[in-house]
Order: sequence, then structure tokens, then C-alpha cells
Amino acid sequence: MKYDIVTIDGDGIGPEVCQSAIQVLREACGSDRLNFMPFDGGALHYQRSGQVLPEDTLTACRSAHAMLHGAAGLPGVTYADGTEVGNDLHLQLRFKLDLFANVRPIRLYSGVKSPLADFSAGQIDYVIVRENTEGLYASRGAGVNLRGEVVTDTLVMTRVGVERIAKFSFDLARRRQGAPRDHQRRVTVCDKANILKSYAFFRAVCTEVAQSYADVEIDYAYADAITVHMLKKPDFYDVIVAENMFGDIISDLGAGTVGGLGMAASAELGLQHGLFQGAHGSAPDIAGQDVASPIATILSGALMLRWLADRHGDAMLQQAADRVEGAVKAVLAHGDAMPGDQGGHARCSEVTQAVCRRLR
Ligand code: IPM
Ligand code: MN
Repeated sequence: MKYDIVTIDGDGIGPEVCQSAIQVLREACGSDRLNFMPFDGGALHYQRSGQVLPEDTLTACRSAHAMLHGAAGLPGVTYADGTEVGNDLHLQLRFKLDLFANVRPIRLYSGVKSPLADFSAGQIDYVIVRENTEGLYASRGAGVNLRGEVVTDTLVMTRVGVERIAKFSFDLARRRQGAPRDHQRRVTVCDKANILKSYAFFRAVCTEVAQSYADVEIDYAYADAITVHMLKKPDFYDVIVAENMFGDIISDLGAGTVGGLGMAASAELGLQHGLFQGAHGSAPDIAGQDVASPIATILSGALMLRWLADRHGDAMLQQAADRVEGAVKAVLAHGDAMPGDQGGHARCSEVTQAVCRRLR
């Protein structure tokens, strides 16, 4: 089977890291399995055309098997209300394609230094599942500004939205081997149920869903407390489920404990569509210099292969996903080509070639 993959290079380092991942995926799958179809989108395109997500790009995304994205956003390119244009590419895709689960693996690889001195590779291996279509983000573009004196954004929780993200999280825990510390399958509900009705609702619905998963332990942590736990006992975590804004925040903290955002892959999944991208930004200050790390986007490409393999029962793609992750692990563990954010001097192209060599 051949898969149509819409690619959106985007802004800043986006083109470099997206093209790097495409090169690796072609090496892993052969050039006839994945049909990469480049489309426009992002802040630079907005400056040229007035559209951050052109209609033809959205149409192509709706009919493709998956989407692979570099990064979007340029400083100073904002809407009148002060919000960033580039971010709208992600947000429009999330809302229009209903990508309700933003899956962010937090894994420490051999060869990568963690600021958490007491933990080594294999001891930090959990997944943050961020609800991606409601919560505080539901108000994007809908906030109220009263005469420049009072401005509000509303946090939205729906039973449908919370149930589906909770089920997604418990199902994910079922497919994993449990937390490194005790191999217990566990879903930790991150919220502020002690303070706000909306989070108390989030916790209550997650707890209802948990009744159907006797084999998966449910655990609770307030969003402030979990930031300490993620530093003190990261090996306790298996799957963490959180509302949109909290998920955005704790996923960067999690990435920081395993080498930074240059290591942060993401899969934004709905029932029909999947968007795969590094969880980092467009890093315009280092754009075009071949110094960005492509690791997050390459690992996101591996997530894409795994997701496609599951959906289409494609064992070859599953194997390719394993090989891509194995190649990245080998490059980091053996120091074939360490990117700048991991203390090395390897260029984006050199890291890409090193991963391709490991694949061969
Ligand atoms: C992320 C980013 C996005 C977000 C921006 C780019 C819209 O921070 O994906 O974590 O706020 O969700
Ligand atoms: Mn973020």
C-alpha cells in the first residue's frame, strides 16, 4: 500500500527538519511506499498570501493518510489582537480536523544528558496525552475584550471531549509496559480539581472511564504538584492525561528533563487524521544555518509510521518505525553525530546522514 503524506515545511527551521525527516523516512521505507506531497502554510506564507492555512493545503490534509510538519511561527507576525499568526496553522488544523489527542512521549535515550542527575536512560519513559481541541484553547480567537479594560478567555470542558481523551489514555496505557519504577500500567490525571469546577469535572469523568480499565491504575496529581513529581519521581509515570493548557505547559517541562525540545516528538491524532511534528518551535534565530536538530521531527516521523501501521495493519511500516527509532537511539548512544542541543557540533544534515547510515 502507498501512503499519501502531506508535508508542510513551515517557517524558520521547519523546512530543514521536515526535509530531514522525509529523507530518513524514505531511507527506512523505500521511495515507493510514502508519497510526500508538499503544501504551503505558516507565517511566511501568510505574509505573502494573507493565508496561514491555504484552502488547498487543508483540502489535501483532509484526504491524505497523514501530515508531517516542520514548524510554524515568526516573531512579529501577529494578528491585530496580538496573538501569533504562525500558531494558527497548528490550531486551525487541530480544530478543523478534530485532532483531539496530542501525544507527547517523554523518553530519556542513552547518550542524552538529563538535568535529573539521579535518572538514566530507560528510567524516564512516559507519555503526556494532552487534550488538544478544548480546555482553555477553545477560546482561541473568541475571548472578550471589554473596552480595553477587561479581557476574558473561557475554559471549556465537554463530557464528549473528556471521555474520549480519557479512553485514549487508558487504551494507550494498556498498550505500554507500565511505568519504569514498578511496571504498573498507570494513568495520572493532571488537573486543578481542588480549585475549579471544570477540572473537578475533568477528574470525575476520567474516574468514570477508569472503571472500565481494572488493569490500569488511576492516579491523580494537581498541575502544580506534578511539576515537582516530574523532577523527583519521573520513573513513576506511565501515561499523564491533561487539559489542553496544562498539557502544553507540562510537556515542555517533561521535554526539558530528557534533553530539551530538540528531543520532543509529537503525534496529534483524531479519529480520521494524524499530524506529526516536533513539539519545538520554528527557532528563527538558527534558521537556514543547518544547525537545528532534526531528532524531534525524525522521531515524530517514526510515530507517524507506527500510527499508519496500526491503522492499516501494515507490518512493514511497524518494522520501519522500529528501525527509525533504533537508528536514532544508536546515533545518540554511540555519538555518531550529536546535535548542538545535546552538546555536539553535528549539523542537521550530518545528523540526518548518520541516522540514514544506521538504517542501512
Ligand atoms: C505546542 C505549541 C503550540 C501550542 C503553539 C505553537 C500553537 O506551544 O504545540 O506545544 O500552544 O499548543
Ligand atoms: Mn507548547
